Amino acid sequence: MRHLLSIEDLDRGEIELICDRARSFAEVGRRDIKKVPTLRGRTIVSLFYEASTRTSSSFELAAKRLSADVVSVKSVGSSVDKGESLRDTIATLSAYEPEAIVIRSPEAGAAALVANWTEAAVVNAGDGKHEHPSQALLDVYTLIDHVGPLDGKRIWIVGDVAHSRVARSCIRAFVTMGAEVTVAGPPTLIPRGIETLGCEVAYDLGDIGEADVIYALRMQKERMNHAFVPSLREYAVNYQINGRRLGPRQLVMHPGPVNRGVELSPEVIDGPASLITAQVASGLLVRMAILYEILAGGERPRPLSRIGGGGDRSRESESSPIGEPA
Ligand code: CP
Repeated sequence: MRHLLSIEDLDRGEIELICDRARSFAEVGRRDIKKVPTLRGRTIVSLFYEASTRTSSSFELAAKRLSADVVSVKSVGSSVDKGESLRDTIATLSAYEPEAIVIRSPEAGAAALVANWTEAAVVNAGDGKHEHPSQALLDVYTLIDHVGPLDGKRIWIVGDVAHSRVARSCIRAFVTMGAEVTVAGPPTLIPRGIETLGCEVAYDLGDIGEADVIYALRMQKERMNHAFVPSLREYAVNYQINGRRLGPRQLVMHPGPVNRGVELSPEVIDGPASLITAQVASGLLVRMAILYEILAGGERPRPLSRIGGGGDRSRESESSPIGEPA
């Protein structure tokens, strides 16, 4: 894998490879020293032109756990504030000869453009309404961890699909992994032609009882330039996932940040069906796996039981993808 720009570029085997690699990194998190030398001496630039808590912190921590040198630049407070263009910013940061640039931008296609301007591998950490591939990969990983293979699983993605890069990446990833995906929400927030990604469409939650997993989306007020719904209160009445709508065997996901009391009720966010915290934890492992696959990957990871699980440790560490502690 040279770059990670879109889920469209990955087939099922490649998604499974990243999930297997992430699973192998879970063991590193249980060590006293949660660090391996895999990317020692390599430089990773994290460049965020939009707000982020989860993606920026987990990519930075992932790079540090792999022993890479990390340069984090936020557009606010950088020379972007003085009018420096994206192309000049990339040229400037590329002078440090980074191996990878992780970029979030409000512009669809920005990551793909950056890949033409630098020798570094480029990871799309969210580009406008287009894609958020690392989010979809961590969601696949989280789901497999909780329900097993996704073949035949029914996943409803509910809410502001129109403005959601997460929805576009997740539909593609879930369908590729064999799930049956339905997107649901008010007609104004469901883009025309979304079915071409392989999902069904519903405009109400009448049949949501059939879902194994309900994936709620954030109402993206910052991307709405006119009223898509009469009010958030009315949206919540018709589409909020709450204790009344949630069945006893259903699981709930959300990419975060959540508008509490809008797309999800507080008792669902904090209840036993919620995988939201598990998603965040998976984000670290999956982003370690993405950086590993891009910068050092190639071979299929061995099962977790063979990594650090006794036996001849000296021979294992010779070829282990994660190696001994740094
Ligand atoms: N899910 C997600 O991308 O969250 P952040 O905006 O906090 O990175």
